[in-house]
Amino acid sequence: MRKIGFIGCGHMAKALIKGLQKNSAFSISGHDRNESNLAWLEHESIPQKSLADLCIESDIVVICVKPKDMYELCATMNKIIDKETKIISVAAGVTLENLKTALPGRKIFRAMPNIGAKDNLGITSIFSSKEDNEILEIFNFLGKAFVVDSEEKINLHTSLIGSGPAFYFEIINEFENRLDGLLPDNVSKRDVTLLFLTSLISAIKDGENLDDLIASIKSKGGTTEAGLNLLYNKNFIQIFSNAVDAAKNRAADLSMD
Ligand SMILES: NC(=O)c1ccc[n+]([C@@H]2O[C@H](COP(=O)([O-])OP(=O)(O)OC[C@H]3O[C@@H](n4cnc5c(N)ncnc54)[C@H](OP(=O)(O)O)[C@@H]3O)[C@@H](O)[C@H]2O)c1
Repeated sequence: MRKIGFIGCGHMAKALIKGLQKNSAFSISGHDRNESNLAWLEHESIPQKSLADLCIESDIVVICVKPKDMYELCATMNKIIDKETKIISVAAGVTLENLKTALPGRKIFRAMPNIGAKDNLGITSIFSSKEDNEILEIFNFLGKAFVVDSEEKINLHTSLIGSGPAFYFEIINEFENRLDGLLPDNVSKRDVTLLFLTSLISAIKDGENLDDLIASIKSKGGTTEAGLNLLYNKNFIQIFSNAVDAAKNRAADLSMD
């Protein structure tokens, strides 16, 4: 049984914990200062520990606090945590070098997961100066994990895959808003959305070419072409790409804060 302790049990930690709870090889505990997150831990029957107990008793500590809270927390952890304990930070933009300075001599890993981890459908990249199969296996249990060789790649992952779900949720949100004008009251909007998204996954799951798929829906002078032309004319693709860059640049900025 491996003991995994979470510091900060907000949105990201909850997704990771939900995914890990499906594996009885992990014994999970949590520490937070936020009442609603403490109530969630209680609801999930996850033991709450003091920071000191969690750091001392865990084999692996996962730090899931916001970047602004990181260094003060590390300064406290530095006085407590054993050199053999593996420490994972999921904080966007907090570099491995800064973590190593804050927690000298420790085994530190940067991981950039996303909320898909909740259903073991997460995508995580890991950056560290050490190779560690156990860390890779844990994140592979939560979906798909891979090791990257630079902070730059972690920042790209942060924007594309960490922040990315929110970009898609915005599009789905508008899709559902427009369904309001279409569906009768007795048809569930969410069911229709799920069916629609599942059909997209089904269409691409065997590696189909995306341009071919677009061509298969679009006919000259037709409705799809009219909609796509508007997207192209409004530079939608460039805008999407710029959004990824904005998030990536913000991740780089956060490392300077
Ligand atoms: N959300 C995502 O999809 C996502 C994806 C990839 C990476 N991340 C990374 O995950 C980290 C957490 O994000 P989140 O969205 O989960 O944040 P969150 O929901 O705000 O959760 C963070 C929790 O940590 C608590 N906390 C902060 N400092 C603490 C301390 N010293 N001791 C005890 N508890 C402390 C916070 O309490 P207070 O509320 O009192 O501050 C809060 O309850 C961030 O660094 C983010 O970059 C998030």
